Amino acid sequence: LGLGHAVLMARPVVGDEPFAVLLADDLMLGEPPVLAQMVDQYRRYQAGILGVEEIPREHSTRYGVVDARPWDDRIYQVSGIVEKPKPEDAPSNLGVVGRYILPARVFHFLEQTRQGAGGEIQLTDAIAHLLNERQVLAYLFSGRRFDCGDKLGYLKATIAFGKLHPEVGADFTRYMDSICEPQASAETLP
Ligand code: G1P
Repeated sequence: LGLGHAVLMARPVVGDEPFAVLLADDLMLGEPPVLAQMVDQYRRYQAGILGVEEIPREHSTRYGVVDARPWDDRIYQVSGIVEKPKPEDAPSNLGVVGRYILPARVFHFLEQTRQGAGGEIQLTDAIAHLLNERQVLAYLFSGRRFDCGDKLGYLKATIAFGKLHPEVGADFTRYMDSICEPQASAETLP
């Protein structure tokens, strides 16, 4: 019934602990890994942490967008969040990517959340209510996000991770270089 509903289904497994949500169609490349960066921020602030990146305003309809003000290095205090706003309604240019660290309290709000944007039960709407009683921070992660829900993003991710792969990366990189030669064509592909 939507991302919020899916997260709520994990409640019996999670129990009363803070937990991470990873949306698999957002593939993250970072050093340290992006979720590890976020766990560090959670340990420092003991607050909900939303992974965000700067997005073009016209892409706001693809994201949860935060209302936030700068607070610390790469950290913003979140005062609001809205799911897939129109560009003219977007509260900032910070879009939530598919990485969250949330307190178990969010389940309480998910239980009460009704259909929102797109007719789905939205995690974003539960976080908006959570903000009334808990601190939530946006973290501008260091690294790169690939949107694998998009065909081109999926291809870019495959190439980036292929080139870095410990076993096949070197050969794959040579292969990619060879097919990127200007004269490469379907007939001459190695
Ligand atoms: C979901 C969330 C949205 C978030 C996005 C990141 O949307 O609902 O808030 O910004 O993931 O990828 P979806 O992409 O599932 O429509």
